[in-house]
Amino acid sequence: MQPQPVRPISEAALAYSVKDLAVDVTTKAGPKRLIDRLDFTVRKGEILSIIGTSGAGKTTLLRVLGGLIPATKDSEVLADGRPIQGPPDRVLMVFQDYASSLLPWRTIRRNVALGLETRYRGGDLQDRVDAALDLVGLRKRADEYPWRLSGGMQQRVQIARALAMEPQVLLMDEPFGALDAITKTSLQDELLRVQEQTGATIIFITHDVEEAVYLGDRVLALGGIPGRIVDVFDVDLPRPRHQIHTKEMPEFLRLRHQAYESVVEAELRLRSEQ
Ligand SMILES: Nc1ncnc2c1ncn2[C@@H]1O[C@H](COP(=O)(O)OP(=O)(O)O)[C@@H](O)[C@H]1O
Ligand SMILES: [Mg+2]
Repeated sequence: MQPQPVRPISEAALAYSVKDLAVDVTTKAGPKRLIDRLDFTVRKGEILSIIGTSGAGKTTLLRVLGGLIPATKDSEVLADGRPIQGPPDRVLMVFQDYASSLLPWRTIRRNVALGLETRYRGGDLQDRVDAALDLVGLRKRADEYPWRLSGGMQQRVQIARALAMEPQVLLMDEPFGALDAITKTSLQDELLRVQEQTGATIIFITHDVEEAVYLGDRVLALGGIPGRIVDVFDVDLPRPRHQIHTKEMPEFLRLRHQAYESVVEAELRLRSEQ
């Protein structure tokens, strides 16, 4: 076999390329910069965890990547090689607030079908919905209404709805933040399994440093006002990950320590600046 030449990551392998990203808003007190000078890339198929104290600009960053709010003119933000102008194709957002994102008068099946009904009909639509429900283990509950389900199940429906649209990129803003510990860990594992099957790129915001390390291929920490990158590091832990074995590895503990320290340091720096 011919040896393969080592090549740098080509632009085509990047889901996002971000240079000098800043976001300004106007407030009653005048213009305010929310995040400043962010530089990073996200590889296709990667899980990037983003951590940071509350107010560091995590949600703001995600909304820029999702094309919901603009960055400053000098920022360069490319999604799949193209400048972002509105929500990019096949990029989907999943929020923490699952309860208000499901329609109570639609069954689970019809909630999942929501984004597909203009594109697909009949059997084709049903097949896609069933496949997404299978991915999150909810096919048997398909004809129930969302308000009859637990919080974890409702969040699963939201994830199934996103998956049904076959996204290349999932932008997740503290999606498991409001769930109990057991539900949270089982959804983490489901998300990893689905990512393995679909190859989707995932940008996952969390304030839980253990979750960030457990899920991620890399962790990016934001801190300060305006929010800046305070740390980025690789998570070189074997996959598939395991809630007990992975978390007992010395490397996991080392990375969790690093993640925790970067968030705490950012917070201390913030206090000294105030
Ligand atoms: N539209 C806005 N106008 C003014 N301030 C905002 C606006 N959106 C967010 N902020 C402020 O910017 C900071 C970063 O917000 P956010 O991105 O939600 O942080 P995080 O998700 O990390 O908690 C916060 O202090 C927040 O109050
Ligand atoms: Mg937020």
